[in-house]
Amino acid sequence: MDKIIVQGGRRLQGTVQVSGAKNAALPILASALLCDGPNTFTNVPVLRDIQSTLQLLSHLGARCSMEGHTVQVDAAGLNNDEAPYDLVRKMRASILVLGPLVARLKKARVSLPGGCAIGARPINLHLRGLELLGARIDLSHGYVEAVCEQLRGAEIYFDMVTVTGTENIMMAAVLAQGTTVLRNAACEPEVKALADVLNRMGACIIGAGTPEIVIEGVERLHPVSAAIIPDRIETGTLMTAAALTHGDVTIQATEPEHLEAVIHKLRLAGAQIDVSGSQIRVQGQRPIQSVDIKTLPYPGFPTDMQAQFMVLMSVAQGTSLISETIFENRFIHVSELQRMGADITVTGNSALVKGVEHLSGAPVMATDLRASACLILAGLVSENTTEVNRVYHLDRGYEALEAKFQQLGAAIQRVKA
Ligand code: EPU
Repeated sequence: MDKIIVQGGRRLQGTVQVSGAKNAALPILASALLCDGPNTFTNVPVLRDIQSTLQLLSHLGARCSMEGHTVQVDAAGLNNDEAPYDLVRKMRASILVLGPLVARLKKARVSLPGGCAIGARPINLHLRGLELLGARIDLSHGYVEAVCEQLRGAEIYFDMVTVTGTENIMMAAVLAQGTTVLRNAACEPEVKALADVLNRMGACIIGAGTPEIVIEGVERLHPVSAAIIPDRIETGTLMTAAALTHGDVTIQATEPEHLEAVIHKLRLAGAQIDVSGSQIRVQGQRPIQSVDIKTLPYPGFPTDMQAQFMVLMSVAQGTSLISETIFENRFIHVSELQRMGADITVTGNSALVKGVEHLSGAPVMATDLRASACLILAGLVSENTTEVNRVYHLDRGYEALEAKFQQLGAAIQRVKA
């Protein structure tokens, strides 16, 4: 497996462009199953999770191609209702084909995704939503089997805010008969981006981006061309790296509005942040100040930025309290940061981070996507060399992150297996 080697101590400087958002691209690619004909999506990030999705859509009978950052998906040949274990286990977000398959084929057989490194991650709310829309759900042999004669609009209240749950039910409801109302829906920009694409396909969705979404079912959808929104988590990761290295970095082609919580916390940590149109300039200052964070559904501080922010707090002046409220096991990066000299104490879902003068480079192991980014960030400010192993996770969700850091002056390289 590839490794990433980081020599710490360089100040990041320069300009960098962010890629399209993985978590917007995944549901949007799945939404192409809802209509016949060629959909074209641009600004799609080149990632392992995108390849896995295209493999899954092809398996279901869609014609897919990717050239550069442009993807075409034509589901006219959709003829298979089964998402098998081998494809789903590679990527949990494969569950996003469940809603479209039931809407289009009136049946679906999708492997249960199971837990992952960051938590149990059940899909009960996806299944409950589909049941309320009129599907019969059966769980057997590790698969969800859903069938219906016709989906019908319903009022659905989500007990917890779920991003892919909201997306799955929204995709099922666009072809249901009548009106669906989703309450306590996820407000993440990726949900709004999916709704925008569905509306361009001819769906009738109002309120996406707020906790109440109203969907008027339509008979059919038509193919579209659409661009994927910028990746707010990649943006936040680069911003944090700039603050961490006391650098001066301008991030282009992003959407600052999607990053209000992160910008607010980085400013409190002492970074100077200037926003202009679609670009954000971050100038890191000394010393970095300790700031408490609590992860929350959007517009709160994103759980997908918690690990990266923890690195910043590891070298800040003072003590910060980091509370993780979305996933029950998202502190797996802590033990690796401790091996690099960070002073972190975890109690339940809180981590008390006492800033230290220096981190020290070490061989470390990435255990999930955002933990990989966190360890690379730690490497950027460590003495000596950090070797990040199991880069596989990073490649699932960050497009050429090490190349972007190189461009900003970091001493970082990938060593091919
Ligand atoms: N939950 C349930 N039942 C459900 C669904 C969710 O109990 O049916 C719980 C989860 O276990 C979790 C909480 O609700 O404790 C929130 O989970 P959510 O469903 O919102 O997460 P997700 O949709 O599976 C997406 C992103 C994640 C991101 C979370 C939270 C995609 C493809 N994935 O996951 O992204 O962390 O929302 O914002 O959009 C990542 O990119 O690294 C990543 C993990």
